[in-house]
Amino acid sequence: KRPIIIDTDPGIDDAVALAIALFSEELEVKLITTIAGNVSVDKVTNNALKLLKFFNKDIPVAIGSNEPLLVAFEDASNVHGQSGMDGYEFEEPTQELVLSEHAVNAMRRTIMNSSVPITLVPIGPLTNIALLLKMYPEVKENIDEIVLMGGSASRGNKGVMSEFNIATDPEAAKIVFASGVPIAMAGLDVGWKALVYPEDCAALKDMNKTGSMIHSLFQHYRGGSMKTGLKMYDSCAIAYLLKPEMFEIVETHVDVELNGSLTAGCTVVDLKGYLKKPNNAKVCLDIDTVMFKEWFMDSLKKCD
Ligand code: BDR
Ligand code: CA
Repeated sequence: KRPIIIDTDPGIDDAVALAIALFSEELEVKLITTIAGNVSVDKVTNNALKLLKFFNKDIPVAIGSNEPLLVAFEDASNVHGQSGMDGYEFEEPTQELVLSEHAVNAMRRTIMNSSVPITLVPIGPLTNIALLLKMYPEVKENIDEIVLMGGSASRGNKGVMSEFNIATDPEAAKIVFASGVPIAMAGLDVGWKALVYPEDCAALKDMNKTGSMIHSLFQHYRGGSMKTGLKMYDSCAIAYLLKPEMFEIVETHVDVELNGSLTAGCTVVDLKGYLKKPNNAKVCLDIDTVMFKEWFMDSLKKCD
């Protein structure tokens, strides 16, 4: 099994990605770390605990940063609801799985103690990952790859050109892309095509316990408007881990714009080599939507 750490801000699409990863036979989730993003770090941590209780999985959880490195925090409760995971009455979780260490220290310990290089899977803003790489650069030697959901080679969803996870903490994202650790980026180019339609959602309802929970959450995702498809952004990072052949991937240089008055927080994906910088990321530019849908539904069937 491939050992991974998921850094997350659940988040309705995070909840789905977590389900698939936690029930996958090919992945071993060693640690879950939380990050302020879709809502505050307290709320997303509680959401992660609710999900683990629901799935009956005892994975340690470490609480991460409650704000970006420099910019002011803006959440996405307009998309995911006030709780970050509106739409399902979860049982209140206990705090037993919560570690006393900060996420950054828990990641360091888990990485350094692993006999096999660990893959980091950030599906929220990159604050914790940037802090980890700056505070404990020795971890780089035992990180296999960072497979992240974030950024875009085209347009944005937070600003004209910026994607939410990157734009929430652009300085952190810049640190991560400049870190020298191999990166795979599943951004909006694929997230916008990884869609769940009303008929898929209907099929989830009676699929199994997880499917029916996700069905309920989907009634509240983006205020319940499903006709144009619900975007399974964070599942794309998990899909990349498990079935990379569904993506069209290009290796290139990616940097993050910090100062542009119109473009701050955007990933600059140098597809034509203007910057003359070495490649630092494998960027998913396209996705086979038929393969994705089949993989997605099959994966959720196993979440039982
Ligand atoms: C990203 O932003 C969040 O709202 C989602 O959970 C996803 O990680 C998409 O831009
Ligand atoms: Ca997320």
